[in-house]
Amino acid sequence: MNSKKIHLKSFGCQMNKLDSSLLAAALTENGWEMTDSPAEADVVVINTCSVREHAEQRVFSHLGHLQHLKKSRPRLLVAVIGCMAQRLGPQLLEHPAVDLAAGPEQLHEVPALLQQAIEERRKILAVTETIRRPADSPDVHTVSEKLDEFEVAYDSDENHLKSQAFIRAMRGCNNFCTFCIVPYVRGPEVSRPPKVILQQAQKLAERGIQQITLLGQTINSYRYTENGRTYTLADLLEMVSQIDSIRWIHFITSHPAKMEDSVFEAMARLPKVCPYLHMPAQSGSDTILKAMNRGYTARQYLDLIEKARSIVPDLAVTGDFIVGFPGETEEDFEATADLIQKVRYKNCFIFKYSPRPGTYADKRLEDNVPAEVKQQRNIRLLELVNKIAEEDNRRFLGKTLEVLVEGPSKKPHLNKAESVDQPQLIGRTAHDYIVVFNGPAELAGRFVQVRISKTSALTLFGEISPR
Ligand code: SAH
Ligand code: SF4
Ligand code: F3S
Repeated sequence: MNSKKIHLKSFGCQMNKLDSSLLAAALTENGWEMTDSPAEADVVVINTCSVREHAEQRVFSHLGHLQHLKKSRPRLLVAVIGCMAQRLGPQLLEHPAVDLAAGPEQLHEVPALLQQAIEERRKILAVTETIRRPADSPDVHTVSEKLDEFEVAYDSDENHLKSQAFIRAMRGCNNFCTFCIVPYVRGPEVSRPPKVILQQAQKLAERGIQQITLLGQTINSYRYTENGRTYTLADLLEMVSQIDSIRWIHFITSHPAKMEDSVFEAMARLPKVCPYLHMPAQSGSDTILKAMNRGYTARQYLDLIEKARSIVPDLAVTGDFIVGFPGETEEDFEATADLIQKVRYKNCFIFKYSPRPGTYADKRLEDNVPAEVKQQRNIRLLELVNKIAEEDNRRFLGKTLEVLVEGPSKKPHLNKAESVDQPQLIGRTAHDYIVVFNGPAELAGRFVQVRISKTSALTLFGEISPR
């Protein structure tokens, strides 16, 4: 056993963070010690994202710092794992700071690969050569089984917040939205066996976790066939609901073209399944939606939202939008603003289109919306989303909401002065509203009632109220 120190930094989405936490657990169990400081680490692992160019640039600038650090500490080992490693492979290994590059499908091999890199002192590349292959090919099956074993072995409550845990329901994606790199870095879509998902949920519940979020790039296409029965997302929700001490269940991300009523019905029928739907539209213009290969029109999306809201009253809807997709005119943009106005989202992420090498949009469409226009459209949509949320959130004033406490809030908020035994806490409602209030730090992981006294576009503020 060695007791080397390792610093692990994550740049990506929830999937990527989950990978990091599993890896951290595996490494600790194998005798490594985790450290927050790269300066005192023997090994630095960076888990990366390729979804936009900016995400990759941040990693390169980080690698620049590490290259500098290596001048004074030549034995420092740097590993780049995750989506960027899969996308760039040997090219990434050429970077003077990088000793090891391993893709998302090699996650379970990383502890052994690090050991090998230390012993052999040579650069190591571990990525999947042909990442796009049929989901039923034997290779995909073998990789999934190995990743599942790793995931079950190293998923512990320490990987998660006190209040909630994320469990992967699926890997990969088969949708090929024309702008998106994910299918090329995460591979074909594979649903994990319900047994394995339940086993993890059960274990986490026993350790005190009360909220579970099921993860998948298109979570509503979850399908697993076993002994002649096909399990869907609705079945998974039903099964996780049966775990006694689980109180709240969320699932992300839903794809509008794959949505079935059974999911909304499960939400309405099962009290533990929260009325929260993250279902990105990406655009409100039919021309752009078609060019994005999203598989629905703005009308179909709006009808779907209407149906969802008729089945699940008080449904909170969140979304993602891309501005400045190739060919997006002012009229297309207005159509997006119009859709946002009609849906009245709880919250949205707005992204500026970033061409990703190898995607259809990058190869065939010209990135012809000027940077300033993308920037302006981004700001305009954010303002609109915030204005709607600000208006809609006022309905919570004076109301008492059930909040699952995450812990002390890190960002300074405008709330009443804190005190040592009543620091500022942050928590979330079943609809995923962020609530800030003062209270004892021991409340982390517990449910409290908070009376809302102030609201803004993104946050609700209040005081704990006795039951
Ligand atoms: N599977 C999810 C999204 C995963 S990526 C879904 O289908 O909704 C998260 C978000 O990043 C996407 O919803 C999209 O809005 C944004 N995104 C993806 N590729 C992008 C690109 N090339 N440029 C800008 N934003 C992008
Ligand atoms: Fe990317 Fe589309 Fe798959 Fe989401 S559904 S990960 S946007 S290809
Ligand atoms: Fe996630 Fe980024 Fe990979 S969004 S799946 S870490 S490309």
